[in-house]
Order: sequence, then structure tokens, then C-alpha cells
Amino acid sequence: MTNRRILLGVSGSIAAYKAAELVRLFKKAGADVRVVMTPDATRFVTPLTLGTLSENEVHVEIFPENVSGSWTKHVSLGLWADLFVVAPATAQTLAKMAGGMCDSMLTAVALTARCPSLVCPAMDHDMYIHASTKANIATLRENGCTVMEAVHGELASGLIGQGRMPEPEGIFEEAGEMIRQVVSARKGLLQGKTVLVTAGPTREAIDPVRYISNHSTGTMGYEIARAAARRGADVVLVSGPTSLETPEDVRRVDVISTAEMHKAVQQHRDSDIIVMVAAVADFSPATRSEDKLKKDETPRELSLEPTVDILAGLGQDKREAQILIGFALETNDGLKNARGKLERKNLDWIVLNNPKEPGAGFGTLTNKVTLLSSSGQEVELPLMPKSEVAEAILEYATNEGSGISDLVVEKN
Ligand code: CTP
Repeated sequence: MTNRRILLGVSGSIAAYKAAELVRLFKKAGADVRVVMTPDATRFVTPLTLGTLSENEVHVEIFPENVSGSWTKHVSLGLWADLFVVAPATAQTLAKMAGGMCDSMLTAVALTARCPSLVCPAMDHDMYIHASTKANIATLRENGCTVMEAVHGELASGLIGQGRMPEPEGIFEEAGEMIRQVVSARKGLLQGKTVLVTAGPTREAIDPVRYISNHSTGTMGYEIARAAARRGADVVLVSGPTSLETPEDVRRVDVISTAEMHKAVQQHRDSDIIVMVAAVADFSPATRSEDKLKKDETPRELSLEPTVDILAGLGQDKREAQILIGFALETNDGLKNARGKLERKNLDWIVLNNPKEPGAGFGTLTNKVTLLSSSGQEVELPLMPKSEVAEAILEYATNEGSGISDLVVEKN
């Protein structure tokens, strides 16, 4: 469960109080847990309780009041999750899920989630054995959901029968089994493939204490390296100076200058997939002082010379079947400039982002990008956490075929 992404959907049954225990079990096992609730579920357990236990914001409404620009959360949560667990699932939520209705965050996520779903019914006995509920459960199973059997016992109505939600420990165990299957299937996606990612800024020294650089923090590149490793690839991350931790199962090579980054990249230039996310300094001081320049010695004008264009070099000798992905940070004429770079540098994909857009670019945990391909595809992704942007880029560029293309605005 460590670092696995569990999306827990809670609907309005008395068993909702057990969701708190379920969150605790997932958290204790090291999972990253996010919770969505139906409005009725909040009558039984508060978003504050589940938010505190999960250490993440709880989403209820699909169109939350006073919040602009976040209505696509159901898409990004659905992309983020490794497993969607609906516990408890009421008769009403089962019916909505089976019928494809999406009037709350939970039911909308149920439609967008690309991961497997584990559904844990809880209701009164007569509701559970009703032909409609049985048909809804059968539909969900046909649609690929795993639906656990409700348990026989004492019910909230005072009756005794089948309808109790399985105990959190049982749900946790079943979820663990499903996660194992998800992980091994995903590891197969890029198993045996080599992936080279560059990230962060490069620094061009003026003297031993001063340099030219930019505001890149490396987050986007690190997330791509993490996403590639999660898919089972052999990942090398060539990183400029950052304060980030190395993602699990990633080999990191630290560099400072563009020349060092170039050298490190050359050693892995045969990688099956190369993603140049680094914000490489385009210019370097023409001369570098070995000693710290005193104030009165410092030139008022710096003479600069261009650095090597690492990506353009890779594009020139691109081998067949190699996937080359570049980034374009543009503040104006984005599409035109990005398309120009895609062609000039002989890339398969370029990821366009604009640092002036709210939530995008350097130093944010989110990004809003457009993917452009050499075959003319143009894909606008909504504002999403960088971890999800990373998943989307790999999914698109490697054509995994799990259908993210259905989720996004495609042009051309
Ligand atoms: N890049 C590179 N080597 C450089 C400069 C950039 O490999 N010396 C890579 C970046 O990692 C990125 C892509 O090229 O993937 C685009 O970088 P960008 O700086 O936006 O493009 P430039 O070609 O430098 O064009 P401009 O600065 O004019 O926008």
C-alpha cells in the first residue's frame, strides 16, 4: 500500500462511520488517501473527520460554491487514483453508478475513474435483495467493478438480514489484493524500457559564487520520472540543482551546468523515451572567473555565449522508435512557438505551458499544459496537479491506450 493512491467514496449510510476506520487503515499502511462524499454521507460523518484522517481536502459537490476553475476535479481525481473504493455504497449510489448518473463528486468520479473500483454495499436487507438492487449490482460487475457481498447480521432498522457493509479490515484486504494487480499490470506498461528524464534548472557560473539560472524547481520532471518508474521503466533522472527527494526506483545523476547536463544526457541518449523537462540555461558567461570578483572588478555588462542545445542534438540523431519529448515555456504565441520547436528539434511531442497562467509553470504543484505531437495532435489538459500531468504525458506519448484521449479536448 505504500504510496498507493486510494480514492475513497463514502455515501449516506449509517456504515459511513466505518469509513473513518477504513481511512485510518489505508493511511497506516502508507497509502495516499483522498475522500469524496455524497452530500447525504455528510449527515453521518463530517468531511472534517475524513479530511483530518486522510490529511487531504474532502470533495462533496461537483460544482462547489465560491470556487472557480476547479470543477474538473472529478477528472483529475479519477486519473490520480490507483483504486476507487466505494464504502459504504448505498442502494441509491449503486443505482446511480449502474445508471451512469453523476450528480455529485462521488458519482462523477465513478464515471471518470480509469482505475479499478471496489464497491461495498450497505443497506437494509429488503433493499439489498430487491430485484432493482440485484440488477444494479449485476450491471456494475458487468462493467468491471468488484462488488463485495453485504454481510448478514443486525441492521440499523433493527431487522436481522444481509445488508451490513463488510468490516473495514475485510475491505482493506480486498483493496490490497486489487492494488497488487494494478501495480503489476502498470509495471508491465514500461517494463524493459529505458527512460531518461531531465529536470530542474542549470546554472552558468560567473565566478565561484555567482551564476545565471532560472526559477525552475524540478517538480514537473521529478513527477515524470516517478510516473515512469511506477510503470516499471528503468529510469535515469539527470537533475539540475533542486531541493527535491529522489523518487522511488529512480537513478539520479546530479549536474549543475548545461555542459554537465549535456554530458550526462549523452551517456543515456539511447534511452527508449527521453523527456527533456529541464529549464536549461540558454546562455553562459563567455568568461568565468576562477576567483570571486570584487565589486569594482565586476563587469557592468556580461558577455554571453549560447549553451549547447541538448534536445536539438538528440533530435538530430534520433533513432527509430525512440520517443523524444520536449517542453516549451512560452508567454506569447505559445502554440506557434511550440510547434516551431517541435519541428526544429525533431520531437515526437512537445509540452506547452505558460508561466503567466495561474497555477502553471515554475514553483507550483499544478500545471496547465497543451500537448502537441508531430502527427498533428493538439491536446489541451485542464489545470491538474503535476503528478497527474506527468501520468497524462506518459499515457499520451506512449499510447497506452487506456483512453485518456477521451477525457481531453482534442483538436485537429
Ligand atoms: N533545451 C535544451 N538545451 C538548451 C535549451 C533548451 O535541451 N540549451 C530543451 C529544454 O529542456 C526544453 C526545450 O529544449 O525541452 C525547449 O526549451 P526552450 O528554452 O523553451 O526553447 P529554446 O529552443 O531555448 O527557445 P526559446 O528560448 O527561444 O524559447
